Amino acid sequence: MAKKDLIIRIGGEGGEGVVSAGDFISAACARAGLEVYTFKTFPAEIKGGYCMYQVRTSPDRVYNQGDTFDVFCAFNGEAYEMNKHLLIPGSVFVYDGPGGDFEPEIPEGVTAYPIPMTKTAQDLKSKRSKNMVALGALSALFNIHEGTLKEVLTDKFKKKGEDILNFNLGAFNEGKKLGQALTKVDEFRVADAKDPDDVIIISGNEACGMGAILGGAEFFSAYPITPATEVAKFVAEHIPKTTGTLLQAEDEIASIAQVLGASYAGKKSLTATSGPGLALMSELLGMSTMSETPVFLIDVQRGGPSTGMPTKHEQSDLFIAIHGGHGDSPRIVMSVEDVKDCIEMTVEGLNLAEKYQCPVILLSDGSLAFSTQTIPAPKPENFEIVKRKLWDGKGEFKRYELTEDNISPMADPGTPGAQHIATGLEHNESGTPRYGGKDRVLQINKRFNKLSTVEASCKPTEVDGDGDADVGIIAWGSTIGVIREAVARMRADGLKVKGFYPKLMWPMPVSQYEAFAKTCKTILVPEVNYQGQLAHFIRSETTIKPVSYPISEGLPFTPSMIVERTKELI
Ligand code: COA
Repeated sequence: MAKKDLIIRIGGEGGEGVVSAGDFISAACARAGLEVYTFKTFPAEIKGGYCMYQVRTSPDRVYNQGDTFDVFCAFNGEAYEMNKHLLIPGSVFVYDGPGGDFEPEIPEGVTAYPIPMTKTAQDLKSKRSKNMVALGALSALFNIHEGTLKEVLTDKFKKKGEDILNFNLGAFNEGKKLGQALTKVDEFRVADAKDPDDVIIISGNEACGMGAILGGAEFFSAYPITPATEVAKFVAEHIPKTTGTLLQAEDEIASIAQVLGASYAGKKSLTATSGPGLALMSELLGMSTMSETPVFLIDVQRGGPSTGMPTKHEQSDLFIAIHGGHGDSPRIVMSVEDVKDCIEMTVEGLNLAEKYQCPVILLSDGSLAFSTQTIPAPKPENFEIVKRKLWDGKGEFKRYELTEDNISPMADPGTPGAQHIATGLEHNESGTPRYGGKDRVLQINKRFNKLSTVEASCKPTEVDGDGDADVGIIAWGSTIGVIREAVARMRADGLKVKGFYPKLMWPMPVSQYEAFAKTCKTILVPEVNYQGQLAHFIRSETTIKPVSYPISEGLPFTPSMIVERTKELI
């Protein structure tokens, strides 16, 4: 019987159009009503170097990129070398040949389909269209819906000119003929089209940008940095349709300073960056804490430190997000699981910053940043937009008034009667600088104590599975999608396992962690960083003694890695 979900991987060189080919397949499947989850990895160079795109598609929901591919399409010898160990019996190999730059050895049990991609593109006098020859062949071999494929291809290339569109359509048709001429001996095929639900297909970064617009952002300032740039790109395209403003700053320090200034002026404001940018911004995050000015920051984590592995996946900014500040600087830190979450948590982060008047950091990651997924089309009316507590104009205005919930009313600059000193200095209730004593203690208590209700303001942490478990898996960020599938597989096999998926990382919902751990014999914490950063916080903040499972090769976990490690523990 044909497999329900299908995983196609394309490998080639940066500049050969691997990403475009993958994007076309995923968009075509989404338009045909199927679920899609993509993963791509590429080098930091603009041209050259190994580039990979994986599409997983199914009629049912998919939560991650999968264990490995069913079909691998190699554009060149390097891609073949990188993936040949994964060509296992039952898999399918489509490759550039004859006429390519390599002669593959086909392992026993692997179905191979040679497609002369380079040669056909050369014959068509358009080397650029090699990816379209491959796409045509893949479409014919694996039932990738030709109608929707041609639609997305046309949408993209029409913008580049009729001639570019036409030679690419021609190359696609040539590739299709080559695919049809082969005798298909495998059973892999994309599921049949169904009536599309009201869905969109976007990447994690675009979803964060969409969340900013839906969350009522009025000011966005950022400095471009991989892998966060597309957040600003999306906002730049859409914020002009609102009353909001986008500024590209000269560097990260300037961008966070502008965000602070705009927020002080009464605008819901945010920035997006990656690890090195967050490090540069940390001094001004202290000012946000001290001056109680709302600031929302999206950190799309990458392989660090320094320039590190800028295009690779990692979850290693938890330490800096939570404790990367000078002095005692409380803040809220959250993380996102998938593309849908990127929208919802961005809206929530903007709201929490307004409500608690402090820095709020949302952690996304490299895998999610570039992953495109099908999600229900968001409805603007479903998002609550929270505004800051404003002074009602009665009585004396005290910017840092001690209140029951520790949150003081703000006033936009220029509000009559609301004059106050705004600085990063410690202060009394009115904002007058004070350098110690009672006012210091009252104000520092206020800044910490106001966060005591954050946990209650957020959704409770999701527990996946019920009853007692031999192993409970705690995961954060995009690793959650992998754990969901691993837990489902193991539970289907009768193993007693559960998952716990925190989105509020700080302040840590300690009692929820403890309650979960009480139902599990062992706690496993898989995360993509070297030090096991969440496991570290679990050890320091709770009574739980987790087993840490850190990896740091620049790639996400796969479900089978989790299944294997969990079985070892059981
Ligand atoms: N005909 C015409 N144009 C085509 C085409 C075809 N058949 N196939 C692809 N293209 C175009 C694409 O549309 C794209 O142009 P666009 O950006 O105007 O849309 C361009 O060629 C690149 O193709 P694409 O498929 O997107 O990428 P690729 O698979 O060739 O890989 C990248 C190249 C994207 C990985 C690489 O250029 C890159 O950006 N690397 C990362 C750089 C980085 O972020 N460095 C970090 C610095 S810290």
